Amino acid sequence: MKDRICMITGANSGIGKATALGLAKSGATVVMVCRNQGQGETALTEIKAPSGNESVDLMLADLASQESVRRLVKDFKDRHQHLHVLINNAGTYLTKRQVAVDGIETTFAVNYLARFLLTNLLLDTLKNSAPTRIIDVAGAYHSKGSIYFDDLQGEKDYDGARANNQSKLANVLFTYELARRLKGTGVTANCLHPGAVATSLVEKDPDYPSSMRLLYKLFKPFLKSPEKGAETSIYLASSPEVEGITGKYFVSKKEAKSSKESYDESVSRRLWEVSAKLTKMYENAT
Ligand SMILES: NC(=O)c1ccc[n+]([C@@H]2O[C@H](COP(=O)([O-])OP(=O)(O)OC[C@H]3O[C@@H](n4cnc5c(N)ncnc54)[C@H](OP(=O)(O)O)[C@@H]3O)[C@@H](O)[C@H]2O)c1
Repeated sequence: MKDRICMITGANSGIGKATALGLAKSGATVVMVCRNQGQGETALTEIKAPSGNESVDLMLADLASQESVRRLVKDFKDRHQHLHVLINNAGTYLTKRQVAVDGIETTFAVNYLARFLLTNLLLDTLKNSAPTRIIDVAGAYHSKGSIYFDDLQGEKDYDGARANNQSKLANVLFTYELARRLKGTGVTANCLHPGAVATSLVEKDPDYPSSMRLLYKLFKPFLKSPEKGAETSIYLASSPEVEGITGKYFVSKKEAKSSKESYDESVSRRLWEVSAKLTKMYENAT
């Protein structure tokens, strides 16, 4: 992976941090996107030292804020001419509905809309650097989700699992739509389920019920380690086996079938149009 520049969001913890470490070990230039400077700097040190790779960089962004995503893209383009791998990994789980700075429900904003905006704003660089790869960390719970066009942001009916499942389905639909739109450009788009991985995702949720917290604590030792959970992301980012493969869903480094709704092109096209409006993408390109 020498001479390959890889951006990973949510790189300070869990699967994202393990992915950043794996790619740093392979010799890639790694751009870690984190929201908290202190946690980002700690993770940066913990990745640089064991990988022996000095080409690891930290960039700060709050993905709940579209202005922050736009600033991230500008800062990245000021520093780098090329981008070979974009891994949309950051995610959140919120039991209670929260609204982020743009007035958009936070799970939808972070888990999906930020990825839509970030990816689209980086497409010119990805195309100019082709062959390049976009990887979306979705999840198996996408199959329990639906896209609630009449209540995308859970204003009428919010539930943490419902919001998470919808956002993960949106990740898969976005990947498939991107792959269709990027045909012939040398940019591929694939998504994945990392497995059930022992991270702090739900533990960070201040409203995660105490009974569920206890249950999670009991089960955590039996879940995959973040290193194992990062294997499919690293595989999709670096393996020659998937060169040119696009528009697929992977589990344990193998192509898998995603849910029926995820293949519905009318849903993915509609979601794209709604997302473009919510991010003011056509009015307001970087
Ligand atoms: N763990 C699993 O079993 C599992 C299963 C299926 C899918 N996934 C997916 O895997 C991805 C990684 O999750 P994980 O399990 O590794 O959890 P994690 O350790 O909590 O990692 C999530 C990352 O996203 C970052 N993030 C959250 N909100 C952000 C924001 N507003 N701006 C910037 N960064 C933000 C977090 O930063 P902070 O540390 O600052 O919060 C953290 O770095 C997620 O997309 C998740 O949905 C996980």
